[in-house]
Amino acid sequence: MHAATHRPPHVAILTGGGDCPGLNAVIRAVTLALARECGARITGIERGFHGLLTRRVRALGVPDVAGILAEGGTILGTHNRCDPFRWEGADRSAAAMAYVRELGIDALVAIGGDGTMQIADRFQHLGLPVVGVPKTIDNDLPDTDRCFGFDSAVAVVAEALDRLATTARSHGRVMILETMGRHAGWIALEGGLAGGADAILIPELPFSLAALAERARERDREGSSLLVCIAEGVRIEGEEVVREIVADPASPVRLGGVGQVLQQRLQPLVGNEVRSTLLGHVQRGGTPTAFDRVLATRYGVHAAELVASGRFGRMVALQGDRVTSVPLADVAGRSRPVPADHELLRAARGTGVLLG
Ligand code: F6P
Repeated sequence: MHAATHRPPHVAILTGGGDCPGLNAVIRAVTLALARECGARITGIERGFHGLLTRRVRALGVPDVAGILAEGGTILGTHNRCDPFRWEGADRSAAAMAYVRELGIDALVAIGGDGTMQIADRFQHLGLPVVGVPKTIDNDLPDTDRCFGFDSAVAVVAEALDRLATTARSHGRVMILETMGRHAGWIALEGGLAGGADAILIPELPFSLAALAERARERDREGSSLLVCIAEGVRIEGEEVVREIVADPASPVRLGGVGQVLQQRLQPLVGNEVRSTLLGHVQRGGTPTAFDRVLATRYGVHAAELVASGRFGRMVALQGDRVTSVPLADVAGRSRPVPADHELLRAARGTGVLLG
């Protein structure tokens, strides 16, 4: 399927996977830039790929995106379980493609995380030209230094740690903050650094309960507190802490609760009181930071440029300071854990933070 030359292209946009701050900023930027670049007709698919199966779409024009730059969530809605290639026991991709053809859609801008990029890549192979935009608070998509939404989540973690630090100091307590991030430690690492955590525990690094207990006892002897930032994907004595198993064909395991398990294991080993806080979806809600608003806008404009110039099968990406794009096929199915030699780990170690 190629954009027709005799009429402005008809471009669909969807947001897939978990929501995060900045989705609306991308929708706005794509819509505004496509309207300017090529007068495109734009259709929003509602609730991610699910909208292609339930036939829920809406027209998106310039007036529809006015005032949404700083709005959290997504005006189109999203779905973090629907994969049309395996939905309710069957492959529904043919029905989705039939609907795309019926609507006369020439191209799709898919805004989402790893699941969305994989599905988008499969639709590209079925003949629907696609451009991807990397979203996730987890920041774990490969070939891009940043996903939008991550900076906003980090800001929430930093603020939570600031607040926990004052109460921890007042009581001489060990305070544990659990962040999201699935199997990647980016949120805990950057949020922990920003919030001055004394210990940062991430899934990529082995973790010693004995070393953490020793650090807590040291602090107790000094009459001070200890602030611990732990990513939900950390294994405690080899075991992942699972919150629930959901009907998500790509990623059924939902993590959560590791902070509380750590509290229970640590308490008998230390003299000071241990408390834990689970930050949860607070990290995903609310308005995007200024950084994310700008990144989302840059991504949206670049995605529109790719569509207007007919360069499909690509995901926009940030490499260094530059917005560029990478092949979608290279991204699909891969993730980006924190590398063992990452500079952020050196910054943490260099300032005496206990890592693992
Ligand atoms: O991938 C984003 C994310 O927020 C993860 O950090 C977290 O583990 C998961 O989604 C939570 O998913 P749900 O919203 O389905 O509970």
